[in-house]
Amino acid sequence: MSAEAGQFRRRFRGPRAMWGRVCSAASTALGKATPPQNRHPFDRRHGVDTGGLIYADALVTGHKHDSESAGYYATAPSLFYRAIQRWSDTLESSGYSAGDYMLVDIGCGKGRVVMMASDCGFHAVVGVELNPGLAKIARKNLRAWASMQTRMRLTRACSELRVVNGDALSFPLPDGPVVLFFFNSFERAMVRLWLERLVHTAASRSAPIDLIYVHPEHRELFQQTTGMKLLVDEVMAFSEEDAAADVFGVNFDRYAIYRICRAESTGSRGITCCLRGEA
Ligand SMILES: C[S@@+](CC[C@H](N)C(=O)[O-])C[C@H]1O[C@@H](n2cnc3c(N)ncnc32)[C@H](O)[C@@H]1O
Repeated sequence: MSAEAGQFRRRFRGPRAMWGRVCSAASTALGKATPPQNRHPFDRRHGVDTGGLIYADALVTGHKHDSESAGYYATAPSLFYRAIQRWSDTLESSGYSAGDYMLVDIGCGKGRVVMMASDCGFHAVVGVELNPGLAKIARKNLRAWASMQTRMRLTRACSELRVVNGDALSFPLPDGPVVLFFFNSFERAMVRLWLERLVHTAASRSAPIDLIYVHPEHRELFQQTTGMKLLVDEVMAFSEEDAAADVFGVNFDRYAIYRICRAESTGSRGITCCLRGEA
């Protein structure tokens, strides 16, 4: 299978006509709507529940953006850690470090990324999730995660760790440096709206807005966005355990890293835009 073919197999909106109708009629109970799956090793190791594929039709909340949801599926840990490492590398000579940043997971689902990010040196990690059932599971996972860390006497730099139940489009970005983690959470029209909003927000602040975009199906929208600077674009192989656990039978995925620069800082200055201390 070619890389591109693999990319497009990984749509998890689901066959609406079949699974979708059955699922949304049958139940709002999460989990009943998914095809049979094995428990991910991440969940077994940490005593949490972040696995599964849940089609968008089973995540309906009554919100006007339900129709734009892509459904739930969690990021492979090996891809997450690789992307964070590559993102950290981009900070070199920016004057910022990971500790200056808040990571916001846009559409955090059951919170796997929020938990993993809490150990990556960010001063704060926040997950935003539209579906209240998933947000509830994410909070339960965070409690289990925190108590395991306490038992193991692990300390972390992250002083704020939380899950917000709400629409990503209404979530106000913090004033300081922020990295937005985005695993293809919504459909094209919503991605476009969200990007417009980000550019608008970026215009009135000096702190950087970075994006880690996993499975970048709509990357051409990012590329067309004013001030959006592509820093990394990589197809990577999953770890063996992530590949074995992948419900799509795929053993790789793609991610891209961007930095939004204020309009006046783009162009000749390249990725040096948003240097610390720039007014
Ligand atoms: C593909 S999952 C990604 C989960 C998580 N970010 C990860 O990488 O493991 C996308 C999530 O986005 C959520 N979502 C979809 N539309 C949303 C919106 N408008 N606001 C907030 N969350 C949304 C879905 O409910 C789903 O849980």
